[in-house]
Amino acid sequence: MAKILVNNSGPLSGEVEISGAKNAVLPLLAATLLTEEECIIESVPALADVNVMKKMLSNYGAEVDDSIPKTVKVKAAQIVTVEGDPDLVQEMRASTMAMGPLLARCGRVVMPMPGGCTIGKRPIDLHLKGFKALGATVIEEDDKVILEAGPEGLKGDAIYLDFPSVGATENILMAATLAKGTTIIENAAKEPEIIDLANLLNKMGAKIKSAGTDMIRIEGVERLSGAFHEVIPDRIEAGTFMLAAAITRGQVHVKNGIPGHVRPIIAKLKECGVTVEVTSDGIYVDGRGDLVATDLKTLPYPGFPTDIQSPFMAFLTTVEGKSTVRETVFENRFMHVVELNRMGADITTENREAVIPGGKKLHGAKVRATDLRAGAAMVLAGLVATGTTEVSEIYHIERGYENFVGKFKALGADIMKVDED
Ligand code: UD1
Repeated sequence: MAKILVNNSGPLSGEVEISGAKNAVLPLLAATLLTEEECIIESVPALADVNVMKKMLSNYGAEVDDSIPKTVKVKAAQIVTVEGDPDLVQEMRASTMAMGPLLARCGRVVMPMPGGCTIGKRPIDLHLKGFKALGATVIEEDDKVILEAGPEGLKGDAIYLDFPSVGATENILMAATLAKGTTIIENAAKEPEIIDLANLLNKMGAKIKSAGTDMIRIEGVERLSGAFHEVIPDRIEAGTFMLAAAITRGQVHVKNGIPGHVRPIIAKLKECGVTVEVTSDGIYVDGRGDLVATDLKTLPYPGFPTDIQSPFMAFLTTVEGKSTVRETVFENRFMHVVELNRMGADITTENREAVIPGGKKLHGAKVRATDLRAGAAMVLAGLVATGTTEVSEIYHIERGYENFVGKFKALGADIMKVDED
């Protein structure tokens, strides 16, 4: 098992190019199952999760051609099975993104229960609520869910989501494209990745309006065709490198980052005294100067992203004064606190709130990447800690960050990946 070694690196500086978004590309690839024609997806990041998704598409019968770097061509001329592979679903929760397309196209799905990051229970009840509203029968067994559309196929309806779940919005959106009549998703998630998915689906011939608002309207169509689409840049990767500049008091130009997608991160960094400037092709972050503490609360988009909570917390440990962080999206997303405390952060938690005393001189330690973003937080902390920080379980990091170590090295970080043995 590989691990990352990171040493105190001084201020990072230079330019980093942001890759295509993990959370956008996974549903985009799943959507290619909706048509028998070829879809071409560009700016696809090289990630472990993308490999799982490509394998999953092949298992369902799609031809997947990834011979050109950053491009994936998918042609699902025939669906050979509607049963998900339990190992792939266990490896990646986003495998459940196949439910909507397969239900709409084949009228039946057998989906093993998902795994993914260990950040709470992460049920799929809202996905199932949506499919039921579209007329599907849902049978929940111990280790799988069976969905059946019935002889008439899916039928559009109004669906209210009790929480604006990203995955549920995407799954229902995909299913509704081929349903008869009109579907309205109320209290829909508004993340940029939802808009990206709707843009691909509309290029495929879907009739989706108002994606990116909390009420999405979908007129069902008979069939969808192939399309060409470029994935949006990863706003969470952009946020991670903005924080790399801030925590090391460095200067980094985050190229290709879309400022409108990272507004809450920009706002919170500015509150702390970090200089953030929007440039013609990205975001420039300068962490020099006196910095102050802040309080933040995670929320669905356009609120502060839960995926940047742990990297931001790593930064707050280094800023003078007490900060608080409240996690409202996931019920168990403070596992990185134990790891940051191993490095001397002295953070306390009560329920969903963490108190960060701040002003700490962190020291290197052996820490775990307890989830994907927590892994990034550990590396950020390691950049400013004395001595060496050893981050284990880095397969989490490789699930969602392209060329993670290489990009940090190019900014001057003293970091390397080694085999644990
Ligand atoms: C997506 C992102 C993930 C991000 C999260 C929140 C992908 C591949 N992953 O995950 O990186 O952290 O959005 O921004 O895009 N919930 C239910 N019932 C459901 C579905 C969700 O209760 O049926 C709850 C979850 O347990 C969680 C909250 O809703 O507490 C948010 O989950 P959701 O928005 O669905 O996140 P994901 O789509 O899993």
